[in-house]
Amino acid sequence: MARTDWYKDMVFYQIWPRSFCDGNGDGVGDLWGVLQKLDYVKSLGVTGIWFSPLYPSPNADFGYDVSDYRAIDPAYGDLDVFDQVVAAAHERDLKVVMDLVINHTSSEHEWFRQALADADSPYHDYYFFRRGSVDRKGRRVPPNNWDSLLGGSAWEYVEALDEYYLHTFDKAQPDLNLDNPAVRGEVEDVMRFWLDRGVDGFREDVITFVSKPQGLPSDVLGLPGSRGLRLYNCGPRLRSYLMQFRRDVLDSHDCVVVGEAPMLGARKALALTAARRGERPLDLVIGFDHMQADCMYTEYLPRPFSLRKLKRAYAQWQDALGESGWCALYLENHDHPRVVSRYGSEAFRAESAASLAASYLFQRGTPFVYQGQELGMTNVRFDSIEQVPDPQAHAHYRRVVEGGKSPEDALALVNRAGRDNARSPMQWTGEKDAGFCPKDAHEGPWVAVNPNHVEVNVAAEDDDLMSPLSFYRRAIRLRRLLPVVRSGRYHEFKRASTKLYVYARESTWSRLLVMCSFSDEPVTFHVPDTYGDLGGGVLALSNYYVTDAEADDANQLTLRPWETRVYVFGRDAVLVD
Ligand code: NOJ
Repeated sequence: MARTDWYKDMVFYQIWPRSFCDGNGDGVGDLWGVLQKLDYVKSLGVTGIWFSPLYPSPNADFGYDVSDYRAIDPAYGDLDVFDQVVAAAHERDLKVVMDLVINHTSSEHEWFRQALADADSPYHDYYFFRRGSVDRKGRRVPPNNWDSLLGGSAWEYVEALDEYYLHTFDKAQPDLNLDNPAVRGEVEDVMRFWLDRGVDGFREDVITFVSKPQGLPSDVLGLPGSRGLRLYNCGPRLRSYLMQFRRDVLDSHDCVVVGEAPMLGARKALALTAARRGERPLDLVIGFDHMQADCMYTEYLPRPFSLRKLKRAYAQWQDALGESGWCALYLENHDHPRVVSRYGSEAFRAESAASLAASYLFQRGTPFVYQGQELGMTNVRFDSIEQVPDPQAHAHYRRVVEGGKSPEDALALVNRAGRDNARSPMQWTGEKDAGFCPKDAHEGPWVAVNPNHVEVNVAAEDDDLMSPLSFYRRAIRLRRLLPVVRSGRYHEFKRASTKLYVYARESTWSRLLVMCSFSDEPVTFHVPDTYGDLGGGVLALSNYYVTDAEADDANQLTLRPWETRVYVFGRDAVLVD
C-alpha cells in the first residue's frame, strides 16, 4: 500500500489513560471513561488520539514498563472495550495511535522472567546480560560506566546468574537487545497485532535509544548522570532497524510512525524524517529542544524562563526541517509540568494559555494537545513527597536531600519540575473529584485533584467564548482550514524581543502573521513593513475582544498582557472572512 502523508494534516490529542476519565468508579481512568468522552475529544476539532501505554504494567513507570504487549491493563479494560474505542473513534473520523515501548520491557515481562530463570534460555539474549569485574578491593564493578537516566548505574546485579543486566531507565525496565533478530521479529509481531486490530500508527517511545554500540564500551567523555547516552542515542543500527520495521510491516499499512527522540538536534531529526534514497525511517519526530527554555536538559535542573531560548529552539527546528522533514509540535505531555505554570503566567492563566497555544499551533509540523492543556490546567502543589506517585520524582527528591538540601527545598523542586503536574485528573466539572470519577464511585481519584478544578474545568469553559477551551477549538479549526499552515515557509520577526514572539507562514498566494505576547504588561509592537498596516489582512483569531478599528489600525499596536492575534493575508483570507 502506498504510504500517504495524511499525518501532515492531523492534530492529535494525547490521552494519558490513568488520569483522563474513570468510567467504572475505581478511581483510575479507563477505556470506559474514554468511550464516554470521545464526543468531547471530537469537539476540539482534533483528528486523532495518541494513547499513552494501555498495556498491562506493574506501573514502576506508569505504563512505560510493559509486562504484556498483546493485552490491555485490566485497570483500563480489556481488548473488547479497546476494540469498541477504536471503532467509536473511527466512526468519528478520529485516528488512533498506540504507544509502543520497545527500548525496554517491564522486569515482570515473561521474557525477562525466563531470561532470569535460565541463562541458556533464548530469552536471555533478548536483554543485555554481561559479566562485571571485581576491583582490587574486592568490590564488584559493573560491565561499563553507563548511568541510568533515573540516577545510579545502568546495571543491576543478579546474584543467581553472577551477571548484570542493562537498564537505561529504572531497574524495573530492562533494556531489550534489538541486535537480536528474534527481538526485532517480536517487535514486528506486536506491531502487526495492533495494526490488525485497526490502529493507525505508533508513537515509539525513546526510539532513538534502541541501538546500543557494539561491545557496550564505557563512555569516557559523557557527563556524569548521562554517561552512555552519547553512544546509544541515534546508535549505529538505528536507521537499519527502523527501515526493517518499515519494509516488513509498516509500509504495507496506511499508518503513521511518530518517534520520540530526547536529546536529538534538529539536523538529526531531519535525517530521520526526510526521504533519502527512498528511505524515511520515521514520519515525524518528537524533539525536546523547545522544552528546555526554563531548564538545562531536564526540568530538574531549572533555570529562569527565557523567551529567546524558546524562540531559538522553535526557529532551529522550523528552519532545519524546512520542506523535507517533519516534527511533532507540542508544549505539554505526560513527561512535563503544565506549560501555563512554566512558560506562561498563572496570573493571566486564560490569556497566557491562548498565547502559548498560538505560539506553536501554526508552525510547520503536526500539533499535539495534551489532555487538560486545552483548559489551561496548571501545576499541582503537593504538600508532601508521600503524595507524589512518580518514581522519577522520588529519585530526584532523594538526590537533592542526599546532596544536603532541606526536604522543603527538595519538595519545591518536585512541585516545579515533576511529571505528576501533568498527571493529575482531568478537570471535567467543578464538582467533587472534578467529575473525574462517576458520582456514585466507591473510590476517590488515584492521585490528588488540583484544587483549582472549581474554576478550571470543561463545564465552566465550554460556553465561555474567552476560555482557553474555546480558544483551542477556534485555533485548531483555523489551522485545519488554511493551506498556508501546511506548506508555508516559516519566518520570524523581532527575534531579539524578550516579550513578543512574532512569526509568519508565507506561501506564494497567502500569508499568516501570528503575534504572541509573553508579558504580564502591555507591549507596543511595530508591524513588519512587509505586512503594511494590518487592514490588508483579516484578523482570524484573538484572545481579547478587538474592535474593527483596533484590528485594522495602522502599523503600530499595543498588545495587552499575553494578547495573541493571528492575521491572514491573500488567498487564504477568503476562507476566514
Ligand atoms: C519516555 C516516556 O514518555 C516516559 O514517560 C518514560 O518514563 C520514558 N520514555 C521511559 O519509557
